[in-house]
Amino acid sequence: MTKLAVFASGTGSNYDAIIHAIQQGELEAEVALLVCDQPEAKVIEKAKANGTETFVFEPKQYPNKQAFETEIVEQLKQREAEWIILAGYMRLVGATLLNAFEGRMINIHPSLLPSFPGLDAIGQAFEAGVKVSGVTIHYVDAGMDTGKIIAQDVVKIHKDMSKADLQAAIQRVEHQLYPATIQKLITGGE
Ligand code: GRF
Repeated sequence: MTKLAVFASGTGSNYDAIIHAIQQGELEAEVALLVCDQPEAKVIEKAKANGTETFVFEPKQYPNKQAFETEIVEQLKQREAEWIILAGYMRLVGATLLNAFEGRMINIHPSLLPSFPGLDAIGQAFEAGVKVSGVTIHYVDAGMDTGKIIAQDVVKIHKDMSKADLQAAIQRVEHQLYPATIQKLITGGE
């Protein structure tokens, strides 16, 4: 069974979708570790409820990014994690993690990249008045949402939609596309 490490900082709805797909037999993997940089994040409770092991840390307790990423790499090695799945990890990944997991680290972003990278992509798209947005899954490189694109799916923005409606529509797409794309990747299909 392919071992995944999911990195999240917040609610964890994508973590939940991955667990659900595993339970349904649609994703042939296990979540060997949840890595979280926010000790109060809701995703930690979800992980505990599912019996997922967690590594929760506070970045400010380390001298720099290299120091906490060195610890993360050690935790990942202990669990023999093969892929890093970023799911709302609100932090730029540094060289230590990138070098250890080159080509085996992916991210999900709530827009059609390269449009609307960075924070609040859904708000950016909504304010811009675009008629379509969507979801992108991409390999992680040193930039902000710049790595090679693996998969995208479109969400139409109708004129009577609120920002909350758009967010809900994007999340519905995310929760399908992420597990399905991970399954293709780990079985050599992308
Ligand atoms: C998702 O919208 C994802 O695209 C972005 O962060 C959000 C995480 O949401 N990178 P959740 O914590 O999985 O609910």
